[in-house]
Amino acid sequence: MSDPKKTSVLVVGGGSVGAIAALNLEVGGLASVTVVLRSNYNKVKETGYDIQSCDHGEVKAWRPTSVRNQVPNITEEGADPYDFIVLTTKNIPDVGPTVAELIAPALDKENAHTTIVLIQNGLNIEKPLIEAYPKATILSGVSLIGSAEPQPGVIVQDDKDRLLIGPFDTPNIHASFAEAKAKEFVKIYGAGGKTDCKYSPDVSHDRWRKLVYNACLNPICAITGLDTGRIRLADGAVEGLVKPAMREIVVAAKAVGVELAKDVMETMIEVDPLDLYLSPSMLADVRKGNYIEFENLLGEPLREGKKAGVPMPTLEVLYQIARALQWRTKESRGLVDIPAKRT
Ligand SMILES: *[C@@H]1O[C@H](CO)[C@@H](O)[C@H](O)[C@H]1NC(C)=O
Repeated sequence: MSDPKKTSVLVVGGGSVGAIAALNLEVGGLASVTVVLRSNYNKVKETGYDIQSCDHGEVKAWRPTSVRNQVPNITEEGADPYDFIVLTTKNIPDVGPTVAELIAPALDKENAHTTIVLIQNGLNIEKPLIEAYPKATILSGVSLIGSAEPQPGVIVQDDKDRLLIGPFDTPNIHASFAEAKAKEFVKIYGAGGKTDCKYSPDVSHDRWRKLVYNACLNPICAITGLDTGRIRLADGAVEGLVKPAMREIVVAAKAVGVELAKDVMETMIEVDPLDLYLSPSMLADVRKGNYIEFENLLGEPLREGKKAGVPMPTLEVLYQIARALQWRTKESRGLVDIPAKRT
């Protein structure tokens, strides 16, 4: 049962990012958290999470207040609406279900109570939610955590949790109200003192800055099959591929009014030590046969840049190749029908 004195939070997506988010929210003592799980539901329901974390140390058999195997239908259950719904799933609008569809059971259409927090990457991810829930306050979460789930319910966090929270621009919500909600979330999330969660008013800046990595290095690694160390060692790849893509993002950001730091390209190329040979998310997803988040990470900045008149030839090619990779995954999962091979 949730404690009425605490803020109620529904975390949708209990993988490596969501589990640490839920843990931070609970250890602060201000929130009671329900986590919606899929593939790891049985394990976490039965024996809890086993977490090895650079922020929290070793946490064995940890359970949030409640775990569910689907998003609760609050109408059917006659339950109070949640104060916050936090999304930590991948956001893959071209495959679905969309985020708006996913959380529909836990919100009513007229929702003005629940604040939605998107701890997800990419651009314009708030737009479909504003359309579906015009009275909802929607917050941006830009996460810089390093964590993985090597087995169901086993979380290894080896890089600190840094989270930037700020209000998305929403036409029907007063800016000062959204700002207050963002600050409230930062307080609840950071209350345990084991994370670096900050209020950041400039959501566009935070998102474009991360795109310098996510729209460039991330798909380039996924397409070439090279990790972030090897892409830096590979003949000409940084000068010929990574930097031209990054330059286009920097110029597109500027064209929409976002000024990025002069050294942002070098910072993003060197953000992980070369000899860690890390696999960015899209490369990891391609290797596992998962769908990639290419529409929000690559498609949206490409479309924004072109709309602002910025030539984006490198991004265009990366986008079209990523789109073909996604089609390949769809075919392997039986989502597309192709004509039979001529004999
Ligand atoms: C939630 O349950 C109600 C009552 O059974 C139903 O009418 C509604 O369609 C459900 N909502 C969603 C989004 O599934």
